[in-house]
Amino acid sequence: MTDKLIIFDTTLRDGEQSPGASMTRDEKLRIARQLERLKVDVIEAGFAASSNGDFEAVQSIAQAIKDSTVCSLSRANDRDISRAAEALQGANRARIHTFIATSPLHMEKKLRMTPDEVFEQSKLSVRFARNLIDDIEFSAEDGYRSEPDFLCRVIEAVIKEGATTINVPDTVGYAVPELYGEFIRSLRERVPNSDKAIWSVHCHNDLGMAVANSLAGVKIGGARQVECTINGLGERAGNCSLEEIVMAVKTRRDYFGLEVGIDARQIVAASRMVSQTTGFVVQPNKAVVGANAFAHASGIHQDGVLKARDTYEIMRAEDVGWSANKIVLGKLSGRNAFKQRLQDLGVALDSETEVNSAFARFKELADRKSEIFDEDILALVSQESVAGDKEQYGFVSLSQRSETGETPQAAIVFTVAGKEVRSQAHGNGPVDASLKAIEAQVQSGAEMVLYSVNAISGSTESQGEVTVRLQNSGRVVNGVGSDPDIVVASAKAYLSALNKLQSKAERVAAQG
Ligand code: KIV
Ligand code: ZN
Repeated sequence: MTDKLIIFDTTLRDGEQSPGASMTRDEKLRIARQLERLKVDVIEAGFAASSNGDFEAVQSIAQAIKDSTVCSLSRANDRDISRAAEALQGANRARIHTFIATSPLHMEKKLRMTPDEVFEQSKLSVRFARNLIDDIEFSAEDGYRSEPDFLCRVIEAVIKEGATTINVPDTVGYAVPELYGEFIRSLRERVPNSDKAIWSVHCHNDLGMAVANSLAGVKIGGARQVECTINGLGERAGNCSLEEIVMAVKTRRDYFGLEVGIDARQIVAASRMVSQTTGFVVQPNKAVVGANAFAHASGIHQDGVLKARDTYEIMRAEDVGWSANKIVLGKLSGRNAFKQRLQDLGVALDSETEVNSAFARFKELADRKSEIFDEDILALVSQESVAGDKEQYGFVSLSQRSETGETPQAAIVFTVAGKEVRSQAHGNGPVDASLKAIEAQVQSGAEMVLYSVNAISGSTESQGEVTVRLQNSGRVVNGVGSDPDIVVASAKAYLSALNKLQSKAERVAAQG
């Protein structure tokens, strides 16, 4: 008999903690739906007590998602736990994930609590949570740097209080695989009631070992839940990457002997959606989801793959959602073909109005670009932040002029709260001129901390995908825009970032 490995996705909580990756409620809901299609076992939807926005996001995900367990993080106190339970009301399956730091450093310097106080607080919070919901996860934050004797005491006590999952995070990415695996194994051996809970690993990637550490926690330590994020998104160097864990366990089933419930064909769509929503570009050589992950450049490799695929391929691109035939639609494709392609890509738009508006944008794009790839379609449906009329700023049109030896100029038309505004400016180059033209009207005062351009698909005919990261009054946001014209893509990305800054400011103001 094979064991099941539970996949706990925390893209919407730990992933969202990356600078600029914060998402709106609607964006989170769309990603949660994709995670459900991916068949993740647990979706950590947010941290309900952290803000009204996050509360609402957890609430709407809890109501919409039927197949995965929906989870909210909460600190180990009654207020946070009550708020999490409130947000999760009505969920088909709900989990509260409560945490407190247990390492000497965190207890003394951050919490300013004694170990005995942390011990009591852990017990009381799990007891309180267990009265509200049956499925309770307890995390010992900075668990890997905690004193084993103390950690065993805490874990034994919280299992007695009814914790059903025990998570031992490597919060700062300090672990190495063998030692982390042994650490989990020794905790499981030493805690007398360890068999009453499922053990979970949660590793950060500061030394590039999050996936290796998590796998060691599973193989050596006997953990049966892995906490991970799409594309390895997360603070600093990120979290353990979902696609790598899943494909490692599936591809090396001979070694791990574990089942995962994930529908791997949804992986690429999930990766694109997360990258386009957050503006965190996936590096081309990233395992499984990078553009080059299945590309064979060397003649010897190409020859081998053509003769027999498994000479150089250990996974099949189509099994993780890279479509075999990547040219999908063109100018003459109709609405039904477009809708069918969305379905094949795992994109479910919420209403016929959304399908119509995406189809209109598809037609516009098809007029300008002869071959439309899956990536173009995924970019298109992630573009609502500059296309939807509910947004403060919307792109209308742009013209720019640049010539060797002349100062580049741009003239832009965009909407502010539905009203058309025109503006023009000079700049170092056409992109600079366009963004200065927007800024001349909006006067956001935001500082640009990142600008990057990426070709969505291989050639110069490709759409450019631009990410702009803006910072203002301590808030950091990423805006993404795509278009065959990279100057237009840049303007869209800038407007999208301004929309996010604006909605973040409104959310903060509403809580004040
Ligand atoms: O890294 C960490 O310790 C966490 C906990 C809150 C689980 O994210
Ligand atoms: Zn974490």
